[in-house]
Amino acid sequence: MPQTDSPLFEARGITKTFGPVQALAEVSLTLKHGEVHSIIGENGAGKSTLMNVICGRLCPSSGELWMDGQPVSFAAPVDAQRAGIAIAPQEINLVPDLSVAENILLGAHRGRIFAVDWAATRAAATEILHEVDDSIDPRARVSDLSKAQQQLVQIARATATRAQMIIFDEPTAALTVRETDKLMAYIHRITAEGRSAFYISHRLDEVRDLSHRITVLRDGATVGTITPAEASRARMVQMMAGRLPKAATQGLRDLSSARTVLEVEGMSRAGEFDDISFVLRRGEILGVSGLIGSGRTEMAKSLFGATRADRGTVRIDGVKTRFKSPVDAIAAGLIYLPEERKQEGIFPLLSIAENTALPSLDRFGGLLTLRNRQMMDEVEALASQMKAKFNDLRDPITSLSGGNQQKFIIARWLMHDAKVLIMDEPTRGIDVNAKQEIQAVLRNLTEERGLSIILISSEMEELLDVADRILVMHDGKVKGTVVRDETTTQESLLELAIR
Ligand SMILES: Nc1ncnc2c1ncn2[C@@H]1O[C@H](COP(=O)(O)OP(=O)(O)O)[C@@H](O)[C@H]1O
Ligand SMILES: [Mg+2]
Repeated sequence: MPQTDSPLFEARGITKTFGPVQALAEVSLTLKHGEVHSIIGENGAGKSTLMNVICGRLCPSSGELWMDGQPVSFAAPVDAQRAGIAIAPQEINLVPDLSVAENILLGAHRGRIFAVDWAATRAAATEILHEVDDSIDPRARVSDLSKAQQQLVQIARATATRAQMIIFDEPTAALTVRETDKLMAYIHRITAEGRSAFYISHRLDEVRDLSHRITVLRDGATVGTITPAEASRARMVQMMAGRLPKAATQGLRDLSSARTVLEVEGMSRAGEFDDISFVLRRGEILGVSGLIGSGRTEMAKSLFGATRADRGTVRIDGVKTRFKSPVDAIAAGLIYLPEERKQEGIFPLLSIAENTALPSLDRFGGLLTLRNRQMMDEVEALASQMKAKFNDLRDPITSLSGGNQQKFIIARWLMHDAKVLIMDEPTRGIDVNAKQEIQAVLRNLTEERGLSIILISSEMEELLDVADRILVMHDGKVKGTVVRDETTTQESLLELAIR
């Protein structure tokens, strides 16, 4: 390697527009020999676009690329490959019907495929693959691999080119901790040999550990380049967001001194969730974040008495309880609203009023008085409190939109004096406006009625909008609880989940 001060690679004033969208605006950066240079930024900041320009998959609208002190231009990825640049792209880009080894070979030899000694190259491909991950069989068909394994094959394919410069675009998003650690070690090894890397990740700790320099992009422009020593989490988040994240600053409340209504300690159920502990306070919205399969729903069903926990205690208002069935839970004021609203939540043949009042009929003297004035008044009052839209409370509930059905289902349990509402993805599949209305309703109910809510949601944005605290679950375990404040971001939640 020539000892020079000049960088291996340089991008000068790269601009890229897609029709009216300016994805990159005058971005300049350099990559030194043996350097890992990380690019961070929120979704849509332009990271992938920049990397795709650098590796010849996209043509810049303006700006220059320089390599070893010479201007270069790439009409296609193969040109960039010849110049020594390879990419492990963010999206999976493999030939599903070919084997792992064949995919690696194709990537490594695109453009001069006839001059290849296949046997020798296959051996080399296998060797590189096993440096990245030794559990993948090079003869396996790519379509039989998991997403994480496919990502690792792409990484092997990129490094197998012996490229001088390798781009890793969010390689760890689907990887486990162990796979990630191995990849980190691998990137350390190849850069110690003098190769260089651009590295993109949302996991800020990873970025700090791996990088020599970190460049932050926001809205297609460079915010700045910092060293790992300067890269505190707060600094990185602040540079990426450019502001205090909007969602997390709205409606912050300190409920730490509010009374505890629900206390769960060491609750486990084999194969579903393990050692779950948390408290829920009066008037609080406790968000539960986690990927599908993290055990959130199973935990909720068990709290509701629909399944039996193997271990653990549940206290309501300080009193140890053990629900044998949902009937017990409902009697104690703890309600679970499942995600499958249509199948489990509504009675399609009954009216709006009947659907709402059904569990409270005792109070109004049973079925015969279903047209009871007092009952109708109560339903109507709740409907207006929640700004529900309907023509006549005697219309079938199925005449309502999904968002309005959801409001009456909430009303149903308010009528029944619910203290704790566990809601599983309450806004999934309803439109944005209805979603925001429901979120506002939930906030109001906590404030006006002191209702406590456990809000299970896959949408981190939703949790960042309405939750007071967020419980992060992964693989059946609680990975941490975050008090939402202005520094809470989707990234910080995601990172907690996967760490
Ligand atoms: N092929 C495309 N056509 C139109 N817009 C695009 C295209 N690729 C990216 N964009 C837009 O450019 C911006 C940057 O996207 P991207 O580079 O993928 O961001 P990041 O990788 O940082 O999440 C986004 O607004 C995105 O919608
Ligand atoms: Mg991207």
